[in-house]
Amino acid sequence: MASSQRRLPSPVRGSGKVWAAVSWCGRCSAPSTTVMQQAHRRRPWNPDDYAGRVPEMVAAAKWMCTTVPYQLVTGRVVLPWALQGLRPAGHALEIGAGSGAMAAQLLGRYPALTLVATDYDPGMVAHARKTLSTFGGRATVKQADAAKLVFEDDQFDLVLSFAMLHHVGNWPGAVREALRVLRPGGRFVGYDALEAPLVRLLHCGEGDNVRLMRRGQLEAELAGLPGTDVQVSNSCSGLVVRFRVAKTS
Ligand SMILES: C[S@@+](CC[C@H](N)C(=O)[O-])C[C@H]1O[C@@H](n2cnc3c(N)ncnc32)[C@H](O)[C@@H]1O
Repeated sequence: MASSQRRLPSPVRGSGKVWAAVSWCGRCSAPSTTVMQQAHRRRPWNPDDYAGRVPEMVAAAKWMCTTVPYQLVTGRVVLPWALQGLRPAGHALEIGAGSGAMAAQLLGRYPALTLVATDYDPGMVAHARKTLSTFGGRATVKQADAAKLVFEDDQFDLVLSFAMLHHVGNWPGAVREALRVLRPGGRFVGYDALEAPLVRLLHCGEGDNVRLMRRGQLEAELAGLPGTDVQVSNSCSGLVVRFRVAKTS
């Protein structure tokens, strides 16, 4: 584990009481159980909560990302939906690439594509390296924090982000970084989870290590960045948001 990656201390994760039975938050109607420890009743997000640290996914979530069913569904079903008709070409960066499942599907389907798969978690980086080893020089795997990318400006034709921003404490920082490393005209494409009772339930036990976007927040963030042709749509009854934006030329 990288030295700065760890579960956040409890004052950061929230200090609400532990409830004895399932109840419902009056503010956001998220279900609250003893397991969730009222993570949703946290105070407003403060960038200092995450300064210099990267929240870590729980072991069960990490494991799930490496299972064959997850990789099959994400790679074959979710990926085409997430690409929104885009046919990737050129040099791409995937942030929070996890096991490398999406990257493997992309490289298999689009022979003209080269891709750098990044993740903060060393275990995921090792897994992705194994997954992508068959693609030779077309695939590179690197450890990188999406909110502090180790790449120069204007490097990539495409930046991809699949179900990972909510794991980045500072997700607005990751969105800014994605736009920074894109070449003018390049695209930032992906999808993520939205704040909703079911999504919160699926992440129970992760507390404030998960920072779910609320509807409209991504659009607001993108509005302050050098982007054009912005397309943001909520899907699956408001559980996820799909996005696509081109960097201003
Ligand atoms: C739910 S998994 C999704 C993996 C992959 N994108 C997929 O769709 O199969 C989220 C991934 O984001 C990674 N991650 C979390 N915070 C990160 C950060 N700050 N920088 C880079 N990767 C991060 C996690 O290690 C994990 O592999």
